[in-house]
Amino acid sequence: MTSPVEMIQSVQLDDEKDALILLDQTVLPNEKVFLEVKEMKDLWDAIYYLKVRGAPAIGIAAAYGVYLGIKKSTAKTYEALYADFKKVKEYLASSRPTAVNLFWALDRMDARFKKEEGKSVNEVKRALKEEAELIREEDVKVCKSIGEYALSLLKPDSGLLTHCNAGTIATAKYGTALAPIYLGQERGYNFKVYADETRPLLQGARLTSWELKEAGVDVTLICDNMASLVMKQGKVQAVLVGCDRVAENGDTANKIGTSGLAVLAKHYDIPFYVCAPLSTVDLQCKTGDDIHIELRPSEEITTKWYEKPMAPEGVKTYNPAFDVTDHELITAIITEKGIAYPSFSDSLLKMFNTDK
Ligand code: MRU
Repeated sequence: MTSPVEMIQSVQLDDEKDALILLDQTVLPNEKVFLEVKEMKDLWDAIYYLKVRGAPAIGIAAAYGVYLGIKKSTAKTYEALYADFKKVKEYLASSRPTAVNLFWALDRMDARFKKEEGKSVNEVKRALKEEAELIREEDVKVCKSIGEYALSLLKPDSGLLTHCNAGTIATAKYGTALAPIYLGQERGYNFKVYADETRPLLQGARLTSWELKEAGVDVTLICDNMASLVMKQGKVQAVLVGCDRVAENGDTANKIGTSGLAVLAKHYDIPFYVCAPLSTVDLQCKTGDDIHIELRPSEEITTKWYEKPMAPEGVKTYNPAFDVTDHELITAIITEKGIAYPSFSDSLLKMFNTDK
């Protein structure tokens, strides 16, 4: 069986059809459906409803999205085209607030637009397509590099625990936190992976355990509240997670439940690694307090997945999609440029300034 790392492209451009082809991550693992998204409203919905999800994949989808959004524009001048671009950019930027890759990718497209000043409308459109392709291609290399650095920290036969889905479908290829697992699989590392189911949207159960199982990795699905037990039993030698935004001091926003795992890992003296492309590091955020945490609807907790409601009608809920792991709980942040150790304010900055 070919692994999903080789087979699955969660975000692709079909330029002839003026469409974005998205793997619908909401129906996995039961169905493998590719959506043909042409309208910006549909792309906005796809991001909001997590049909396309995972910080790097959201960024790639948004980059292709702004290109498709202006491709149809009838603007005759650079300035008029830029006005159309701005509208699409702002609209897509309002879809989800926490993953900085969305804003990073849109800003990068904006910078490319500005670089093309003086060019014809068609030349600008071509340049934007090229930039979106570059963002996607670079992500493959970035993830592979994160995987290599992360693998250098892991021993064969280790038990690894991961949360949410930071795998190949959350990126252009390989994933971030799952990249070392795929590389280790190729090299006979024989990892045993514990995947948290990840309430309330079950990215761990539906996506991570599916991806890893398809790839032949030894994966065991556990409920979120079982992590403490498997750690206490000595089954976990390292925790690996992805992230949606890393502040300058290393505080890290990732899927709700991540910070609890970090507290547990500290208690059991297990290294806690965050896998972070530099596009996810936001130096504008000084600490985790500056990170906007997305709040999502009650139904995700009370009714979704159930035949009947599993909570009294009208009960108050609180459904933050992410939490912030304190930098003091993080052993290392693994980027494509190397491994950052505390103090992160210094080590992360160095990653931005290295040519590696
Ligand atoms: O709400 P989601 O499913 O988009 O949350 C995703 C995560 O928390 C991932 O860990 C993160 O985006 C990293 S993906 C490489």
